[in-house]
Amino acid sequence: MPHRLPDLPFPTDALEPHMSSETLSLHHGKHHATYVEKLNALIEGTEFATSPLSEIVAKAHGGIFNNGAQAWNHAFFWNCLHPEGGGDPHQGALADAIAKDFGSAEALRNEFSTRLTTLFGSGWVWLAKDRDGNLGVESTSNAGNPITDGKMPILTCDMWEHAYYVDYRNRKKEYVESFWHLVNWNFVAANFEREAPYEP
Ligand SMILES: [Fe+2]
Repeated sequence: MPHRLPDLPFPTDALEPHMSSETLSLHHGKHHATYVEKLNALIEGTEFATSPLSEIVAKAHGGIFNNGAQAWNHAFFWNCLHPEGGGDPHQGALADAIAKDFGSAEALRNEFSTRLTTLFGSGWVWLAKDRDGNLGVESTSNAGNPITDGKMPILTCDMWEHAYYVDYRNRKKEYVESFWHLVNWNFVAANFEREAPYEP
């Protein structure tokens, strides 16, 4: 079952001025598309030929993991963003859990932002829920994803250079500030309620 590049959940210019149409066209149309293409070539004739992406993220290694996880991570990341995003999480189970595990939404944003600006090399920063239901912030290198450790991804931000260099050059802090204007808290809250990881 070949995987396909999912459409962006919004037009390429919908996140301006925080994320440009040029960035989204390249990031989705070239980078994300290439991960999907390479994955399809690599899984042919293997035990992962018919696996859903989340299973590839949980079980695969090497090139199949790298391209499969990048395909999953990007599909998830696009849904973490919304033209009318930003602000604080709405009242509910997620907001309660953030208050319990971080003290406040602001404290979560501060911890997440520090992880993003101090990440060395390419990777992702995650809000993830462990098996006991506790929330934590973690970073992963390259294609890494918390699913591999049995955790549930709740929110992510792409900290590969291709995510911000066109718009912000080396000004990582400005990219991170712009990310918080775009966070789709409805999607993030839905991820907190999931029984199984998001499936693109
Ligand atoms: Fe990316």
